[in-house]
Amino acid sequence: MSKASFVVAVAGATGAVGREMLRTLEQRSFPVSKLVALASKRSAGQRLPFGAGEVVIEALGPKSFEGVDIALFSAGASVAREYGPIAAKAGAVVIDNSSAWRMDPEVPLVVPEVNIEAAKTRPKGIIANPNCSTIQMVVALKPLHDAARVKTIIVSTYQATSGKGQAAVEDLLQQTRAALAGEAVTPAVFPGRMAFNVLCDWKAGENDYSEEELKMVHETRKIMGDASIGVSPTTVRVPVVNGHSESVHVQFHRAMSAEEAKRLLRGAEGVVLMDDAYAPGKHPQPFSAAGTDPVYVGRVRDDLAVAGAIKMFVVADNLRKGAALNAVQIAERLFVR
Ligand SMILES: NC(=O)c1ccc[n+]([C@@H]2O[C@H](COP(=O)([O-])OP(=O)(O)OC[C@H]3O[C@@H](n4cnc5c(N)ncnc54)[C@H](OP(=O)(O)O)[C@@H]3O)[C@@H](O)[C@H]2O)c1
Repeated sequence: MSKASFVVAVAGATGAVGREMLRTLEQRSFPVSKLVALASKRSAGQRLPFGAGEVVIEALGPKSFEGVDIALFSAGASVAREYGPIAAKAGAVVIDNSSAWRMDPEVPLVVPEVNIEAAKTRPKGIIANPNCSTIQMVVALKPLHDAARVKTIIVSTYQATSGKGQAAVEDLLQQTRAALAGEAVTPAVFPGRMAFNVLCDWKAGENDYSEEELKMVHETRKIMGDASIGVSPTTVRVPVVNGHSESVHVQFHRAMSAEEAKRLLRGAEGVVLMDDAYAPGKHPQPFSAAGTDPVYVGRVRDDLAVAGAIKMFVVADNLRKGAALNAVQIAERLFVR
């Protein structure tokens, strides 16, 4: 597609990721000749700020993608399953944020810093954006993998409520207000109390792992192109609005020291290494990562229990690098720069 500017559709424009898509397109001056903002019938006619003006939300339907060059989807898996192929058939390149297409062998699963080449072969006209926790982890692992090939990853996540959508953020805030007022806390979206608490919050997967945990296993292997990588995850939700954190232990096919890992991470694409010697407050944090693009890596240490392994703390904005930014970067790398 060699064009100076593009008709871009955002399916799910009113959601947490969709709104971030609009901001990201605007902030990065993506060459948009026309923006088609799509959501459910409930939102049709609403307006969202875009560029110097506003866009009017249209109800998503079978004719929504006529004339669209690039369709960014963030409207959940069932919408992506139904409308992804319709958009592709209409001639759009689809980049989908949901889990619908991620493990389809005919759909590339892409993080530009790791495997942008994969996005060039897309038999279904669809490219999948990985799960937010997986994206930030593989960006941090890529330079290390290139040097010493990752063998085993043991990861614990501390995931923000915005990862579950706009309604989940409102639930956290409402629960927090109720708790501070000494009132009963009644969860609306979460499966239990989220205010001042930590929750295992995903559908059951297999073998007593959650779906989210299994996504980290399978998506990591597909993106890194190495089915032998062992991934042992525990995912939890914490009462943070935005920004996922991860404690990551990594073993390699040869010994890696923290010093070597830091040398490889310094200046790596998409990574900001927070290299300070340990000091409370001087490490990657979701509050300061929110609203920014990089994957912050800090607390890089030699593992005390396993010789030749390292530990690190990895933080990124789940709505940006974990979703909207990654999708827009794929489109940029394919069509703009
Ligand atoms: N949040 C994250 O950090 C994150 C990260 C990576 C991937 N994702 C994935 O991105 C997708 C969106 O997540 P989100 O957090 O933005 O959710 P959200 O805040 O709940 O937004 C959902 C969006 O989808 C639209 N939608 C729902 N049903 C629809 C339908 N039948 N037809 C058309 N539009 C429909 C909604 O429109 P209305 O406003 O009209 O209901 C809204 O715009 C999900 O698949 C999620 O798994 C999210």
